[in-house]
Amino acid sequence: MQLPDTQAWAEAIAQAWCARLNAQPALHMCLPAGHTPTPVYAQMTRAVAGGRVSFHRATAFLLDEYGGLRKDDPGRCANMLRTQLLDGIDLPAQQFVGLDADAADLDALCRAHDQQLAQRPLDLAILGIGTNGHLGMNEPGTAADSLTRRVALHASTVAASGRYLTHAHLPTWGVTIGMKALLEAREVWLLATGEHKAAVIEHTLHGEISSAVPASLLRTHPNCVVWLDAEAASRL
Ligand code: PGA
Repeated sequence: MQLPDTQAWAEAIAQAWCARLNAQPALHMCLPAGHTPTPVYAQMTRAVAGGRVSFHRATAFLLDEYGGLRKDDPGRCANMLRTQLLDGIDLPAQQFVGLDADAADLDALCRAHDQQLAQRPLDLAILGIGTNGHLGMNEPGTAADSLTRRVALHASTVAASGRYLTHAHLPTWGVTIGMKALLEAREVWLLATGEHKAAVIEHTLHGEISSAVPASLLRTHPNCVVWLDAEAASRL
């Protein structure tokens, strides 16, 4: 799906999202933090305020989280998502499933996450994309059947994290939902905006399908929509 500018892009995604939620209020979703979804989240906050949609029966899983950041660091994924979306919508707190990178037993937390996702797969996985083709923190080289787990971040992902932080202690690891649960989602929406995403979008859609570019694995998914603004689509 290609939209002329980022505003039209955000409005179209929000409209589709409202329609999905209105059709299935108990939607099971995973949500990304980061810059890409910001205008979409702003639209959804307005839609909730205007009574056009409600998240009160939905469940939202955090897609990924940085390790090594203070709990109150505004750059932590959960905190970004809270500021951009959760604080402005009516999703009950207990229906938000975070990924606490500080958990004493991180493996147990990851297993519990996967168990929940196996019992009831995601209805809708909303994803951003890294310039290296990562989905969540599933970096290049990640297998299609990877589980929720602790991961080491690639150098470009470490550098990119600096865009969200007000200090120079960049995270080198994180926790992410694995490719398996993402590929098992009933529906996947991949979101990308801006010229800096054009090359990886070209590779994702027209390059080899391979774990070298995890986003390309979405081409094996039967129900994936790629939402692009004109700049992200400029090399197609
Ligand atoms: P961005 O991050 O939305 O801030 O560009 C996307 C990602 O790295 O997955």
